[in-house]
Amino acid sequence: MRGIVLAGGAGSRLYPLTRVASKQLQPVYDKPMIYYPLSTLMSAGIREVLLITTPEDVARFEYLLGDGSQWGIELSYAVQPEPKGIAQAFLVGEEFIANTPVTLILGDNIFYGRIGLEQVVAEFRFGAYVFGYPVADPERYGVVDFNSDGKALSIEEKPEKPKSRYAVPGLYVYDEQVVGIARNMAPSPRGELEITDVNRAYLANGQLHVQLFDRGVAWLDSGTHDSLLEAANFIATIEHRQGIKIACLEEIALERGYVDVDHVARVVSEMPNSGYRAYLEALLAQQ
Ligand code: DAU
Repeated sequence: MRGIVLAGGAGSRLYPLTRVASKQLQPVYDKPMIYYPLSTLMSAGIREVLLITTPEDVARFEYLLGDGSQWGIELSYAVQPEPKGIAQAFLVGEEFIANTPVTLILGDNIFYGRIGLEQVVAEFRFGAYVFGYPVADPERYGVVDFNSDGKALSIEEKPEKPKSRYAVPGLYVYDEQVVGIARNMAPSPRGELEITDVNRAYLANGQLHVQLFDRGVAWLDSGTHDSLLEAANFIATIEHRQGIKIACLEEIALERGYVDVDHVARVVSEMPNSGYRAYLEALLAQQ
């Protein structure tokens, strides 16, 4: 399974922070936001990743993340010239997808806990998988309504009167039909290729599966100043309490066997003195 991280968009709600660096490069406590969605893909066993961003930001992402070899993954980059919708990721990424299944994650979506993506990816056969997460304000999201078998009944983008409390997070798994679906879609009234319309196409074919996150999962929003601060506080609270780091990509790479101890030691030796380096040195000392 290949993965796409969509990390473009205008980021206008975070102005003036986003004047110099895009939303997904902003800090969420002790690391850039983009580390979190990348960690979600890596933890699910996805090692071929395409990062899609704006023409202005692509060089900054490349500088930060490189080719992924430090984490034993293959990272490549593509540009979305204008933010014309989340589903445009499948057209920009068509060559990368190369008629294979693909997981898409939005670069500002942060997940914590057992989300079950690894199992979905490992057992994936056809159709589309989206996730459901109860929220207090479903009208701000894609909203899915489903029956007791997890079969979706309806999916709507930012409905005024939501049919359920279940928001659809920015994490989607699709089979190879997705590129054709995106190609044949018309832009919405706001001029975007909507991800919810992709999901509706799968729903119409009876191929949209919904998997609910367990209660213990946290799905954090980071698109406004307040939600960014809340996400940072959440990460800091858990990291302080447990003495572990969330979304430490070197640690995930080591744990999953993408790289060996010597490789991580080399990567760490090039890091400046910092809490991040000290954490990894302590981890290496335990190996
Ligand atoms: O976060 C989950 C929600 O994400 C879903 O529940 C909604 O169904 C989905 O439409 C989306 O809603 P948002 O209102 O959050 O979408 P937004 O336009 O803010 O875009 C989400 C991220 O994707 C944002 O960080 C920027 C990036 N993006 C967005 C668009 C439209 C791009 O990189 N390119 C784009 O063209």
